[in-house]
Amino acid sequence: MKIESMTAEEYRNATLNYASALKNLNVMFETINDEFISRAMSNPIEHIKSRLKTTQSIIEKLKKRGWEPTWENAVKYVDDIAGIRIICSFTTDIYRIATVIEAQKHIRVLMVKDYITNPKTSGYRSYHMLIEVPVYLSARVERVKVEVQIRTIAMDFWASLEHKMRYKYKTQIPMELSEELNDCANIVSFLDERMTRLNEEIEK
Ligand code: GTP
Ligand code: MG
Repeated sequence: MKIESMTAEEYRNATLNYASALKNLNVMFETINDEFISRAMSNPIEHIKSRLKTTQSIIEKLKKRGWEPTWENAVKYVDDIAGIRIICSFTTDIYRIATVIEAQKHIRVLMVKDYITNPKTSGYRSYHMLIEVPVYLSARVERVKVEVQIRTIAMDFWASLEHKMRYKYKTQIPMELSEELNDCANIVSFLDERMTRLNEEIEK
């Protein structure tokens, strides 16, 4: 089916499983956070954001990669129709959450990209996981892909501004601004390290 010709209702039906997967993951992460709070007085997750990709954004992505903008191709080739972002206080919490995700029996981890150990040239830092989760329907189980981004509050702060700048300067961010942005990324990383150390000091 051509995505362009899908009505709002058709899109809602097509993305129903993705929306359900996001709901389930939200509950799962809240539960895990509550468990950490009750057990260790720690609060690894600061907050969670999730979203379904808009039809326009799916179409653009398919076209950019040379695929016909059909729903079948979206399901096959677009990995971030459903996206969830987990914002943590400390870098160490990111890896704790990632380990918890990997240990879940019902979740299959398809891909991991550690842009914290290996930041992008832009300075972007985050931990990405592409996972496959089951959605339990009345008579069958379906599996959908969800893109998980795990980052600290500081990394998220940086990524939002960088995203806004990239949106504003569609072709290319001016040199002096991108240098400044890169410098800020280093400060973010430095701040995250110091905050983590400070937190470890307190928790000793
Ligand atoms: P996309 O085509 O953007 O999906 O890239 P990809 O398929 O190579 O996946 P990648 O894991 O690199 O990026 C997936 C998502 O991470 C993006 O859609 C953004 O939300 C985020 N992201 C990746 N790189 C950057 C970056 O340099 N800046 C910002 N602000 N976000 C980024
Ligand atoms: Mg993406």
